[in-house]
Amino acid sequence: MKNIIVLVSGGGTNLQALIDAERSGAIKNGRITCVISSKPDVYALERAKQNNIPTRVIPRKSYSDSVSYSRAVLAALDEEKADLVVLAGFMTILDECVTSKYAYKIINVHPALIPSFCGEGYYGLKVHEAALAYGVKVSGATIHFVNEKADAGAIILQGTVAVERDDTPETLQRRIMENVEWKLLPKAVSLFCEDRIEIRDGKAYVK
Ligand code: GAR
Repeated sequence: MKNIIVLVSGGGTNLQALIDAERSGAIKNGRITCVISSKPDVYALERAKQNNIPTRVIPRKSYSDSVSYSRAVLAALDEEKADLVVLAGFMTILDECVTSKYAYKIINVHPALIPSFCGEGYYGLKVHEAALAYGVKVSGATIHFVNEKADAGAIILQGTVAVERDDTPETLQRRIMENVEWKLLPKAVSLFCEDRIEIRDGKAYVK
């Protein structure tokens, strides 16, 4: 059974999808053993507590830079004996000290079709604002491994939705979450826990 550590910064609807998937048996060979938040008082922590999942808060604001923050996260991941780290709406970029030690063991959900609308500065609603401003006709979400560059690790799964004429960033975000993120993130987590993701030439393939 693999230890899954989920990192959050906000409302935690993706965390909820993972909790629901674990409860229903859709995540095979893995269990969420800790939720770590970069912010105190976010609703994601409440979701974890309601489901008796241990929580930790490592506030980003308490650290002067990304390296010292990442060292604190790394220490927590080691203490928790993490087999898999899931960034579920985690709004802080982790330094190489974490991404190299946990290479191909950190999964992120990004709310766009990478390589579009991704990288530093593209997070949350900003991603959907950019997609609408560009006028794309489809968007979606990407589940990928995390490496030292923002949103640049190997892609595991992607899914699409149509962009509607009268979409706002909020309506597009909701459609992508409901139709793609909440389904594909638990799926990718289960594939990982079942050892069904193969890496070849830096790319991820489902076995
Ligand atoms: C989700 O849409 C997730 O894809 C996005 O933030 C939202 C978090 O919602 N993540 C990023 O933008 C990371 N770059 P949640 O807290 O309800 O899961």
